[in-house]
This record gives sequence, C-alpha cells and structure tokens, in this order.
Amino acid sequence: MNVSTLSWIDGTNRDGFCRMVEQTLLPAEFVEIDVKTVPDMVDAIWRLAVRGAPAIGVAAGYGMLLGIQQEGGRERGDLMKHIKSTSETLAKARPTAVNLFWALERMVLRAQTDFEGGADSAALVAGQFEEAKSIHTEDAAQCRRMGELGADLIKDGMTLLTHCNAGALATGGMGTALAPIYVAHEQGKNVAVFADETRPLLQGARLTTWELMQAGIDVTLITDNMAARVMMEGKIDAVIVGSDRIARNGDVCNKIGTYGVAILAKYHGIPFYVVAPRSTIDVKVATGAEIPIEERPAVEITEGYGKRTAPEGAKVYAPAFDVTPAELVTAIVTEVGIIHSPTTEKILEAMSRA
Ligand code: MRU
Repeated sequence: MNVSTLSWIDGTNRDGFCRMVEQTLLPAEFVEIDVKTVPDMVDAIWRLAVRGAPAIGVAAGYGMLLGIQQEGGRERGDLMKHIKSTSETLAKARPTAVNLFWALERMVLRAQTDFEGGADSAALVAGQFEEAKSIHTEDAAQCRRMGELGADLIKDGMTLLTHCNAGALATGGMGTALAPIYVAHEQGKNVAVFADETRPLLQGARLTTWELMQAGIDVTLITDNMAARVMMEGKIDAVIVGSDRIARNGDVCNKIGTYGVAILAKYHGIPFYVVAPRSTIDVKVATGAEIPIEERPAVEITEGYGKRTAPEGAKVYAPAFDVTPAELVTAIVTEVGIIHSPTTEKILEAMSRA
C-alpha cells in the first residue's frame, strides 16, 4: 500500500507545510491539499480531510510546527507560552481520538524539557521539528510491527470483516486494522475482506474499499446492516478493527457501529480483534464510560453527500463513536505484543514495556 496520507514538506524551516490527501473527496477524486496554518489544520481535522486516530496524532504534531516555525525570534519564555496556546487550539479540533491529545502533550513536554535544559528559542523550534517528525516515523514503524504481529492471527484462506477505515489512510504508515491484512497478503496468504460501508460518512465504502482495491486485496463491500446476515452465512472468520481510544480496562472506543459488530461477532462465535498502537491507549481513563464521544452535525445524516434523505427539520442524534466493552474483545494487537482477553492488569503491563 503506497498511499502516504500526510507528509511535512520542508521549506526553509520557516515556511514548511503539511501536504495531505483530501479524504473527503475519495474515492471520486484523489487530491492532495497543502495545510499552511493552525486554523486550517484544525479545520482539516474537523472536516475529516485527515482522519483516523494515528493520522490525527501525526497531523497534530505538524500543526504545532505550523504554529511555531516562524516564531523562533520570540523571547524563549514567550515562545513557550505560544507553544502551549498553539497546542490548546489544536486540541479543540475533535474530542474522541486520544492520539490528538497524546501527540500535543508529547510536543509540549518536549518543549518543556528543552526549555528547562536551557534551550534558546531557535533550539526550542528545532526540538519541535524533531519531535513532530519522530511521531510520524514511529507511527509508521508501529503500524508495520502491529501488522507483523497481527498477521499471525490470520490463517491462509481467512475472510475478515472490518468497520470504518483503519488503513494507511488513517495512520502515518500502513494502517492499524488493515496492517495485518497487508502483511498476511505479503506473506502469500489468501485473505479476503468484507468492508462495512460505515454510515453515515462511509469511511468503509469510500476509503477501505478503495484502499484495499489499490493494494490488490479481495474486498467485498456490504452495508452496515448486512453484517449479521454475512456472519450467519458463515462467511466471516474474524472481525478486525482499529480504535480511537482504549480505556485502561480494555473497553474500546471506535467508529459508531463497532459495538454492534462486536455483539454480532460474540453471538456467532467469531473472534473480535482490535489493532491499535499504545498511543491510542488512554490509561487516564478507567473505563469506556469516561471517553468523550463526538457528536457530528445532523446534516451528515440527513443530507450525506449532497442528497437529502430525511425530512427537513427531522430530529437527529449523531454520535460518531461507540464503546465496545472489553469482555467482547478477543485480543488487542499493539506494537509491543498481543493482549489476549484484555484486563486493566494486562494493559498496564503492556504500557510499562520499553
Ligand atoms: O471519524 P474517523 O474517520 O476519524 O473515525 C476513524 C475510526 O473510527 C478508525 O476506526 C480509528 O480511528 C482507527 S484508525 C487506525
């Protein structure tokens, strides 16, 4: 899979910018946009031009660079304040994917450490460049590692069901949930995928189907309400999804509809796998009940993609994510290993590993 969903284009180290795939236009058009200001990065994240938890984290790091790259002339105390306020602005983009806050905290911590070590303003800016680029390269490496570990769960001839898009488009690398599929495919295993359409914004139909077809992987698109039927017909060997935030007890928050798929999988005796880097695990959150769930505008349901499908003025409720209780999760694949039947103890142990 060769799609690079976002990258930092270096200028003179003062006028760099973030180039990203405009995901709202896929699959009709493959267009890249150049994001050059912090408000434009907030907007790109909110509009889902860049989306998927790890990709949002990488975008947040680059958003910080947009905010500070021209500020190296400030007095260093003033620059520190500016770094913190840029991070607060970016944090407002979307509430659920913890990778956004994780990346911003990491950027601010780096600045704080450099500041306390006596760095001048130029060195503070240089440190931010290094950190943002590390967030991206580390994410790519973690995707690969999760792909290798997760591929062991995929036997030759298996068919997997996935929900939303947790592929290259959603990360700085080859994906989370789709990474084991890519690696299994590389290993010569025969793998097929059923992709849920993922109402209302159709990340499954528009993005996963497109991405897997580009990679030459056998993919079949279904609407979300077909998943039960497809499982009953015995067509699915395992479910594999990504996550936007995992609580420390193993509850998994992901795209709306994931919880329903997990219940269906349990009923049909199908394993339910989650693939996510540790940057998606929020140990500050005890259970999924504490995870803030984004609500999206009603128009995304009533007039998705320009066609009115509900009466004018219809009352709408539009949570963008749901929480799958840990008891429905067979295993979580992270970059440091597979956590089977996740519990708080096992998650904290994985988080403490080097
Ligand atoms: O609203 P989105 O498209 O950002 O939601 C994305 C998802 O729910 C993904 O499944 C999740 O971020 C995992 S991405 C590797």
